[in-house]
Amino acid sequence: MKKVIVTGGAGFIGSHTVVELVNAGYEPIILDNFSNSDERIIKQLEQLLDQEIEVHNIDCTKEQQLARFFLLEGNIHGIIHFAAHKAVGESVKDPLKYYRNNLISLMNLIKLMKESEVKNLVFSSSCTVYGEPDTTVVTEKSPRKEAASPYGNTKRISEDIIIDSSIAGDLSAAVLRYFNPIGAHPSGLIGELPLGVPNNLVPYLTQVAAGQRECLTIFGDDYDTPDGTCIRDYIHVVDLAKAHVNALQWLEKNPGACDTFNIGTGNGHSVLELVNSFEKVNDISLNRTIGEKRPGDVSAIYADSEKAEQILNWQAELSMADALKDAWTWQTYLKNNW
Ligand code: UFG
Repeated sequence: MKKVIVTGGAGFIGSHTVVELVNAGYEPIILDNFSNSDERIIKQLEQLLDQEIEVHNIDCTKEQQLARFFLLEGNIHGIIHFAAHKAVGESVKDPLKYYRNNLISLMNLIKLMKESEVKNLVFSSSCTVYGEPDTTVVTEKSPRKEAASPYGNTKRISEDIIIDSSIAGDLSAAVLRYFNPIGAHPSGLIGELPLGVPNNLVPYLTQVAAGQRECLTIFGDDYDTPDGTCIRDYIHVVDLAKAHVNALQWLEKNPGACDTFNIGTGNGHSVLELVNSFEKVNDISLNRTIGEKRPGDVSAIYADSEKAEQILNWQAELSMADALKDAWTWQTYLKNNW
């Protein structure tokens, strides 16, 4: 079986990708330092997959740890690199933490890939690289704007590091620009585990629904959108996970390739639409209020995902309602079992 290293494999998107790799016949190996994930997720994964998963507690910024792993493991088919800090607000307060962690881990990996002749890299980038876009729908050709946060800047710089390394012949790469991942595995066994107060809409909302938080604040209702709230492209995490498998398969067929893909549904939904849909599919009434705009939020953005469809043969299959149902199943599981 082809061994695929999944850095950050215990995290939200990483853990779902491990499941899809196994489903597609790969052998995922998780590298994670559990700085923003919970070791119990590994047991959950093993239960879901009914098999053991190889896991190494490794910090990708520590080159020697990583080098030892590469040496001992051998025969690595590819790397899917998720391990990174991702809190936008924290990155503004502590930019060095973000630049150090997100960039050094990537550079260490690329150096070791080159030395060990591992060619295939799938990288998790973000629609944040488009900044405040000129058009609501963005294609991969839309300009990357100045990053609104150090976090966003690490994604932009990472993309450049990968492109330059591929030009130098060091690797083949698929850079995936995620839109807004939400939901959880339909089994209810894995999902998002935010530390402390969630920053993102869906984990905050599910905690309000579960009675862990009092009220959801909708950040602004006077944006220039049909209902005044921001518009995003919410993608089910299982669809997103599958895109990584397709990207890997594309790299296998196209040695030396390096390209960037939007991974979204191609549909925009407002915050109000999402909240109303959550209430409807789960038959729950949410305590909510309208608050101030959150600084740095763009009013509306969603993906043109045509390129991923054409080249990666990938398309989102699940709806926002599916994701909101699965997110609630996971939250309920957490409440009863965690
Ligand atoms: N929102 C609320 N209330 C909340 C949380 C969020 O109304 O309690 C709104 C936001 O204002 C925004 C929408 O819900 O309109 C989505 O917000 P999220 O925080 O869930 O997601 P973002 O679109 O802000 O974040 C995404 C990615 C990040 C990326 C960022 C760049 O998840 O990785 O876009 O803008 F950095």
